[in-house]
Amino acid sequence: MARCDRLGAISDERGRLTRSFHSPAMQRANALVGSWMREAGLDVREDAAFNLLGRWPSSRRGARTLLLGSHLDTVRDAGKYDGPIGVLVALAAVTYLRESGLELPFHVEIVGFSDEEGLRYQTTYLGSRALAGTLTAADLARIEERGLRRARRRAGEFVGYIETHIEQGPVLQNHELPVGIVTAIAGADRIRVEFQGNAGHAGTTPMALRHDALCGAAELVLAAERCGVVATVGQMGVEPGASNVIPGRVVLSLDVRHGDDRRRERAVHRLEADARTIAATRGLRVRWEPVQRTKAVRCDRRLTGLLVRSVRRAGVEPLKLASGAGHDAVALSAICPVAMLFVRCKDGISHHPAESVKRADVACAVTVIADVLAELGRRGAKSNYQ
Ligand code: GLV
Ligand code: MN
Ligand code: MN
Repeated sequence: MARCDRLGAISDERGRLTRSFHSPAMQRANALVGSWMREAGLDVREDAAFNLLGRWPSSRRGARTLLLGSHLDTVRDAGKYDGPIGVLVALAAVTYLRESGLELPFHVEIVGFSDEEGLRYQTTYLGSRALAGTLTAADLARIEERGLRRARRRAGEFVGYIETHIEQGPVLQNHELPVGIVTAIAGADRIRVEFQGNAGHAGTTPMALRHDALCGAAELVLAAERCGVVATVGQMGVEPGASNVIPGRVVLSLDVRHGDDRRRERAVHRLEADARTIAATRGLRVRWEPVQRTKAVRCDRRLTGLLVRSVRRAGVEPLKLASGAGHDAVALSAICPVAMLFVRCKDGISHHPAESVKRADVACAVTVIADVLAELGRRGAKSNYQ
């Protein structure tokens, strides 16, 4: 908890917590977490995508690697647990197991991913997709940094990826449970929408003769609110941006999510048609640019089953729930089985400085992750978990 506080003070902005991909604050965060990993006896390095990696090697010949972790970047004006808790819970569990003299038949690597939120380039999972080798040419063309592809890891190298994360919703609190097990992660679309109209004088242009880009954008925001799935316009730029000038151009972000890919895709198609109708009716031009699409991801049955048993051994009823938020596990699912443990967070508040977790709940997560590693170690001899 003290480490979360210290990390929470490392920010690119004064007075609020913001850490974006490869920013000065991210470099300081990696240095600090890297020093804690070294203290725990791990081999520490940063890869070509600025992911921080701390490795606990196994002495077993031909061992594969179990990956644990989450991300160290944040949204703008963030809370201090979304991301870091998954890295620090893993570090606490590994520290405990190493100190108790356990030897595992697989390497354990703890990763602090460099970009899950997509704040810098509006495209998520840069770090974890670089590691998974799924960055596209379009992704790479959008960003200034070069060489991210070198972070790609060998196919078949990983036994699996287990991520601990705050729930970011109210379900565990309602059930009075400290932790829960994730079954699936909702799919998401991110779209950039641009309305182009005519700027003009706010006093002299009659209402009937206007082509106000912001009025068109406002209609699309309301259509998104009614589209039947979870949809959000979180950014909007209005140009030229003066109180006495009719808005000539608006660029907005649209984020659409659902656990069922078909329903999400249908909603996106409808919203695109809405945007075109709105533009045609108002004499605007519209550009609809899909930025990113990730499908819903199912967590691995075997790893999830292990989490269920470890949660039960920790004396907690194993509640399964779906994740409406995106996670690095989505990117990792392209190359290995993934599983997730959620930690209760106060009132489900997240992406907000009021984000809060209980010490005892975090302790429970550490116990569960340590137990899963030990159990995987016991099974390693008889299964392919090595
Ligand atoms: C990440 O937090 C996301 O779900 O956008
Ligand atoms: Mn987040
Ligand atoms: Mn997160």
